[in-house]
Amino acid sequence: MENLLKFLKERRSVRAFQDKNIPKEQLQEIVDVARFAPTARNVQPWEFVVVTDKEKIAQLSDLGQNAKPLAGAAACIVVFCADSNYFLEDGSAATCNILLAATALGIGSCWIAGDKKPYCQQVNALLAAPANMKLISMIALGYPQEENAFKITPKRELKELLHWEKF
Ligand SMILES: Cc1cc2nc3c(=O)[nH]c(=O)nc-3n(C[C@H](O)[C@H](O)[C@H](O)COP(=O)(O)O)c2cc1C
Repeated sequence: MENLLKFLKERRSVRAFQDKNIPKEQLQEIVDVARFAPTARNVQPWEFVVVTDKEKIAQLSDLGQNAKPLAGAAACIVVFCADSNYFLEDGSAATCNILLAATALGIGSCWIAGDKKPYCQQVNALLAAPANMKLISMIALGYPQEENAFKITPKRELKELLHWEKF
């Protein structure tokens, strides 16, 4: 348990990757973990597209400055949700599971924004997703380039944000 808590605290966004493929079984395992995420009323509105084709990943990385971490990624998991009351929360929970599963496997990851971005329909078209599917996120995946890649983002201190009994 202690190890699990430590590991949860050590997840960080990774944006520079080695030129090394991720085995298909590991990508499948990551999506398998995603489907266990909490979901309002157990609707499970999610669909996951795993992209490993370099050309397609390059096209996704060209969608905007914020999508650049995809440029050197070995794979990208694109999370879509069917339109439903809590599609964004459900899809975000699944996205978090993907980030954590990747960390557990020693794979670096970075959440690339989906919902609210002007390129949503372009992504649907690129991946042949039905137009009514909502883009939640695109997750860049790959083996981290820098040794300390998992430990670079500073976090707010606990005492600054934890409130007991009242705000
Ligand atoms: C909803 C959401 C959208 C994000 N979009 C992007 C993005 O488009 N590009 C990017 O490089 N990082 C993106 N991130 C990653 C954040 O920048 C990152 O999580 C944050 O800086 C904290 O760093 P950490 O993940 O290392 O803890 C996004 C994260 C979230 C939760």
